[in-house]
Parts: sequence; structure tokens; C-alpha cells
Amino acid sequence: MHIVFHKNTKIFHLYNHEISYIMTILPNGHLGQLYFGKAIRDREDFSHLLEESFRTTSSYFSEELSTMSLEHLKQEYPVYGTTDYREPALEVIQADGSRLSDLQYDSYQITPGKPKLSGLPATYTEHDEEAMTLIVTLKDPVTGLKISLSYTIFKGRSVIARSVHFINEGTETLHLGRAMSLSMDLPDCNYEWLQFSGVWARERHLKTRNLEPGILSVGSLRGSSSHEHNPFVILKRPNTDETQGEAIGFSLIYSGNFLAQAEVDNQNVTRILMGIHPDTFDWKLLPGTEFQTPEAVMAYSGSGLNRLSQTLHSLYQKRLARGYWRDRPRPILINNWEATYFDFNEDRLVDIAGKAKECGVELFVLDDGWFGARRSDYAGLGDWTANRDLLPGGIAGIAERIEALGMKFGLWFEPEMVNEDSDLYRAHPDWILRTPRRRASLGRHQYVLDFSRREVVDCIHAMMAKLLREAKISYIKWDMNRYITECYSAALPADQQGEVFHRYILGVYDLYDRLTSEFPHVLFESCASGGARFDPGLLYYAPQGWTSDDTDAIERQKIQYGTSYCYPVSCMGSHVSAVPNHQLNRNTPLYTRANVAYFGTFGYELDLNKLTVEEQEEVKRQIAFMKEYRELIQFGTFYRLLSPFEGNITSWMVVSPDKKTAIAGWYKILNQVNAPFSRIRLQGLDPELCYHLEGSNQSFYGDELMNVGLFTSDAMCGKSGDRRPSCDFDSRLYVFKA
Ligand code: GLA
Repeated sequence: MHIVFHKNTKIFHLYNHEISYIMTILPNGHLGQLYFGKAIRDREDFSHLLEESFRTTSSYFSEELSTMSLEHLKQEYPVYGTTDYREPALEVIQADGSRLSDLQYDSYQITPGKPKLSGLPATYTEHDEEAMTLIVTLKDPVTGLKISLSYTIFKGRSVIARSVHFINEGTETLHLGRAMSLSMDLPDCNYEWLQFSGVWARERHLKTRNLEPGILSVGSLRGSSSHEHNPFVILKRPNTDETQGEAIGFSLIYSGNFLAQAEVDNQNVTRILMGIHPDTFDWKLLPGTEFQTPEAVMAYSGSGLNRLSQTLHSLYQKRLARGYWRDRPRPILINNWEATYFDFNEDRLVDIAGKAKECGVELFVLDDGWFGARRSDYAGLGDWTANRDLLPGGIAGIAERIEALGMKFGLWFEPEMVNEDSDLYRAHPDWILRTPRRRASLGRHQYVLDFSRREVVDCIHAMMAKLLREAKISYIKWDMNRYITECYSAALPADQQGEVFHRYILGVYDLYDRLTSEFPHVLFESCASGGARFDPGLLYYAPQGWTSDDTDAIERQKIQYGTSYCYPVSCMGSHVSAVPNHQLNRNTPLYTRANVAYFGTFGYELDLNKLTVEEQEEVKRQIAFMKEYRELIQFGTFYRLLSPFEGNITSWMVVSPDKKTAIAGWYKILNQVNAPFSRIRLQGLDPELCYHLEGSNQSFYGDELMNVGLFTSDAMCGKSGDRRPSCDFDSRLYVFKA
């Protein structure tokens, strides 16, 4: 990997074997964008890539620089108001009320590895040889604002990680009204835009739109990245599919309000912006102070969407997620939420855990309801001490009993929230986010604590850390069950209220940081009413997240399939739950529920005592299967084969790094009568290897499975003695061994 600055031509070229990223210093001193895509050879001069020409009606710099119109130049960090009319990356509000900036190139620096971002999650390197970072510094001569654009290129990865750092070196107070993490002008608009959208229990469904002149965007103003839209979008060429064609992914490592936007201008240039949502952001930058944006990642694939996803999976699995659990197969857990809701006592919990242990489960998770006065969702949040009526020995006591069974113990928290009916709220009613002179809205009968305040975070930290020190807790589920309203902090002056949303998320990251540092062996799973904060920001602290509250095996196919475009299997919390399903009232076979949940961290969310003896035996076999294959499933190479957004059949597969083992999942929604013949073409196998299909007497070469395909016709394609009858919600797993 290389970063070169060609002094004579003023060109920066970042490249490795996969990608090139080329920028130049423009005639007016700003930084311009020339190319991002498949690697091209380096040369001294790329200035011919700079397209500038005079166009009728354009505003231009001066008579000397008459072709110099920012409207027609591809830029790295554009501002609005001085010949460019597109939406900008930056807006600085100055003491005199003006909003113009002039970002003049100042200097650059190339460093090995990747500097840390203070207080924010980000990708990282373990050795300096893994990456190089270019920092280009720009300065506004009028305000004294210094802006450092940071670009990291990694060895062997088709990604560039970007962020922006500001220092006010002037003498006047500035306000950042907009400070995007990434801006990128692409030379054409022949792309489809893929976004991952939904709502509670229906998160990250793939939606596709065409780029047209004008603005298209997704974002969140809810205080978290949200169920509604994920901070991840893809631009792909119209002919790109899973196996071939160009695509660029844009991912923001952030858990708060965000904006991801494409603007197609009058010459078909596409400007991508990504960062903190400017509508709820206004950061006061006193002289001498600094601001750091979140990091954004741009990933490129010249060979289809699966490759794009695999690039992100590997980066996020190995160089975003951290700690003890990063590379370890995840414990198979049982969670009591859907088994009991609030209706439990210690003996009932131990009873559930005992049966789970007998079936092979490794971790018991006690969900909501164990603390304070929490007997329903009207009370207790904020009081993180055990309810002794339910748990006579406290958390330490039940943890001991679970450990005595030979299992690990995990615990649910919702650290950022408080109920009105709680000791914490009674002691500190001013600790919630609330606009003065206005009422405070509720969500699930609770308020949001003001995590922008250090003393609030300290107080919650003290309660959580005490429990973690006293009891044998191996896992924490960190929930967040409502969005933010009336966002205002009693601790900040009027001209800093635009900082509260971001400071809130910094407070969340701070608490995560303190807890994961002090308790490095505890496995954290993030959660927000299911998947309302399933984003790369939290993946830095919690290597897994609860993908959705929807545990129905059919709905889960869409959710997990959509999630897989950006996020690795190892981070998707997935459980087998009871039927009829609690969200949909649907009955699906036990094997299908497991066949879907295997492609995640895997666990159970029901009382196994309530299953028949035969079902319990099936559960034992499922757990044995997952223990045998979880390393491969969670850390192998994942391929999407057939999309649930397109048809009745869904299919995906994982392949081991040595390509000797592969598992394909095949799922059918509705049964069909007199169905057509069917096959799926597998991917990622070694064409030269002969694979045995486990549980059969059949073997196939990799080239046959990838080109002819695997025959998946079932008994609905005509009567045949060797095919078991099929049904609605059917599924199969195919295990291949070379
Ligand atoms: C949220 C979570 C669930 C469960 C409940 C408990 O909805 O997503 O998994 O923990 O809270 O109240």
C-alpha cells in the first residue's frame, strides 16, 4: 500500500493492489477529487482528470480564473456559497453572521498505521505496517479554522477510512453548523442506491432507488441510528449483482443522528455526503478548541455485492470489533425474555437454565425485570440493584446458582433510561433530557437520561461496575428502548444546545469504554428495542448486537439478509423462539427456526421445559451442530445466494478460509404444488476439490456446484421415494466437506 504526493503536479495518490484514491490541489487552493475505484498504476501527472470548463450561467472566481467554478469541480470538502450551489460538507457560522469558508491547502503529513480518534469508535491497526494515513490540512485565512482531512488506506483491503478534525486557531468563536465525515464527488450518476430501512421488528430491509437529478437521502433524527434507516448505503452500477459489477459502500461508524445523502447535479455528478445529521447539530468552537467527526468508511468492489460485503465483514470483524471476544466463537445462550417476560422468580429462572444446560446451552441471560421496583415497564429503570423479593441472594446469588449448573451468567441493563417511578428520578428529576418550560414526552413509560453530563454517566457507571465487581457476570445485554425527544441539557448554555445529541452519544461511548476496559472478559451485546442501534459505532464496544426483536424464522431471513450487506454473521444476535411466534403468531418448524438462527450468534429465547421430549432431543442436536460449526459459520466467508426480497426461496452460505468446508442454508416461504425444478449455484468453493454432501452418499466437484448448481428440487416437484415431503416454511442445511 502506498501514499504518494507528486509535488510538481500537486497530486495525492493512495493505492494498494485493490483500489486507488486520487486527489489534487485545485488552482484556487482547495482540495479536489479525481478518482476512487479499482487500482490504477501510479504516475506523476493525473491533472488531465481534472475537468473544468466555462459554462454559460456559471458563476466563476475572477476574470483570471474564469473556468474556476466550484459548481463544476469535484471536491473533497466543499462549502456552499462561493460558486458551488450543491449541499456542502461544512458550514461554519461566524461572529459576523457569515457562513462562508475558504479552505486553502496548507500542508500534508503521511503516517504509518492509523491514529486513534479521541472519544469515538473507529477502525484501528494492530501493527503500523497494516495501513498508512494521509492527513491533509486546510486553513481558512479569514477565521483561522484549521481542518485536517484524514484518509487511511489498509494493506489488502478495498477501503478508505475517513474523518475530519477541526481546531479553531483564530480569535473568534465559531459554530460548526455542519461537519460531515465524508464528501465524495463521483463523475457520473449511473448508479442504483441501496439503503437498509424498516421499523421496529422489520429492520434493514433492502430498498433500491435510482439516482436522478436532485437529492436522495436517508438519516436519523431520533437520537440513535434507528430502526428506520441504517447508517450504510451502497451505490451500485445497474448491472451489478452479487457476483459481478462495481459497487461502493459508505458506512458511518456512529450511533447517533446521521445523514447519508446523494445529490445529482446539473452535469450528472453525484455528491455523496455522510456524517452527523446537520439538522440537529451546532457545535460551538471557542478559540483553541477542537472537534473530531465520526469516521466514515468507503468500500469498493469491482466484482459484485458479495465481495463488497465480505470486505466490510472482514474489516469490521477484525479491525473495528475488539477485545477478548473478537475472534472467539460466541457462547450459545438462553434468554428468559420471551420465556417469562416480567413473570419470574429465582427458582423459575434456575429451572429454565437447568433444562437449557441439559441441552448444551452455555450462557443464561437474565433479561429485563430483575432490579428496583421493576415488575412491569412502568417502574424501576435507573435503579440498578437487584429486587431481593425475586432474587433473595441478589445478582451475586443467582449468578452463583447458574455457575453451579456449569453455565455462565449474563444480565440485561438499560443504562441510559429512567422511569418516573424510580429512586433515581426522585433524587434527580433534572437528569433527564428535557426542554425547559415544556413537557417531556414519554416512550415506553420512560425518560432518557442526559448522558451528555458526566455526573449522570458516573452515577450509572458506579451502579453497573459495582454489580460487575460483586457478581460473576460474563455477559451484558445493553438495551435502549426509546428515541430522544425534547433534546436539551440543563447543564449546557443556550448556545451549546446544538451539541446535546452528539454529546449524548459521546457519553454512551464513554460508559461503554469504561466498562469494557475494566471488564475485558465480559461479552457485551448491544440492543435497542431490537435493532434500533445496530451500527458500526457500537460494534467497536460490543462485538454482537440483537439484530431485531422479531424472532420469527421467516421474517428473520429478510432482516439477517439485509443486515449481511454490511455486518458480519459473528455480530448478529439470533435466537430460536417459541411458536406461535410472539411477534407474528406464526408457526414454523423447530428445524427452520434453528436453520435461520445458526447464521448468527445463536441462542434460545423460550422455556425449553415446555417442549416435548422429542423437541428437546432435537434442540440437543441443534446445539451440538452449532458447537461443531460455529467457528466456520461466524468467521467464515459469507455469501448471499438467493434474496428473500425477490422470491419465495432464500439461500446463503458460508465457506471456511481453506475452502474445505461449506454450509449452505436453503429456506422456502410457501410450499408450491407441482413446483418447477430448482437448483442454486454455490459460491466461493474450490473448483478443484471434491465435496461430500454430509448425510448423503453424494459428492460433487466445486466447479459443478458453482456452475451447474446444487439440485434443490423437493418432493413438490413430483413424487419420488427419496425426497421427504415438503411444507410451508421449510428449510434445509447442506454441509459440504472436501
Ligand atoms: C427490548 C429488547 C428485548 C427485551 C426487552 C425487555 O425490547 O429488544 O429483547 O430485552 O426490551 O424489556
